[in-house]
Amino acid sequence: MSDDRLIVAIDLPNALGGLQLSQNLGDSVGFYKIGLGMLTGGGLALANELKDEHGKRIFLDMKLFDIGATVEAAVRGLAQFGHDFLTVHGDPHIVRAAKEGASGSDMKILGVTVLTSLDRADLDAGCIKAGDIHDITLERAAKALEAGADGVIASPQEAAMIRALPEAAGRLIVTPGVRPAGAELGDQKRVATPARAIEDGADHIVVGRPIWQAANPREAAQAILDELP
Ligand code: C5P
Repeated sequence: MSDDRLIVAIDLPNALGGLQLSQNLGDSVGFYKIGLGMLTGGGLALANELKDEHGKRIFLDMKLFDIGATVEAAVRGLAQFGHDFLTVHGDPHIVRAAKEGASGSDMKILGVTVLTSLDRADLDAGCIKAGDIHDITLERAAKALEAGADGVIASPQEAAMIRALPEAAGRLIVTPGVRPAGAELGDQKRVATPARAIEDGADHIVVGRPIWQAANPREAAQAILDELP
């Protein structure tokens, strides 16, 4: 049985590479995240194949944002495939529309709070209100959860703070930006180890490059699983 607390991000340039990665990882990994980069290159077909033919769980990282009616229609279309998680921006009207679109399915809607690649200057450029970025992240998480999100995406350094919110009781926290001790950070800045992220309240950790760029992805995934509390 795979430990589905680990979600492997397949950020490879094509679907065939993604399929080969999942075959290489075999039974050790049961949950995959497929993001926009791959979704525009055959990723939905890969998601369906991994689920239907290989029994994998799927997280579609689409970060949807549009008028409510369009989000609802898009989510309703996706919900028919039976995937597990879908991201939308955590704005309350988007979350409500996505939950409506997902009704009748088991697909969980996860709200994106503030992208971890943004800093205060980026928020200023986007006309986002003044204030500390952590406070805004926490406020957006609370609002997304109040609006009915099944969970939120957060950096591991925000996981504990969000877990402490009353709104987060029984909801999911999913954290990218996870790096085993000593691993390359890449462009990730606010990172934590897999164990730390779980101890701080994450239900799932998302790990990409430390696994798919490894000389032996299966060993790299197993080492991360072995680290989990
Ligand atoms: O390779 P790495 O482990 O950094 O991959 C993390 C994955 O999580 C990537 O697919 C990235 O797009 C995604 N992600 C992230 N930070 C966020 C949201 C998503 O790193 N705030």
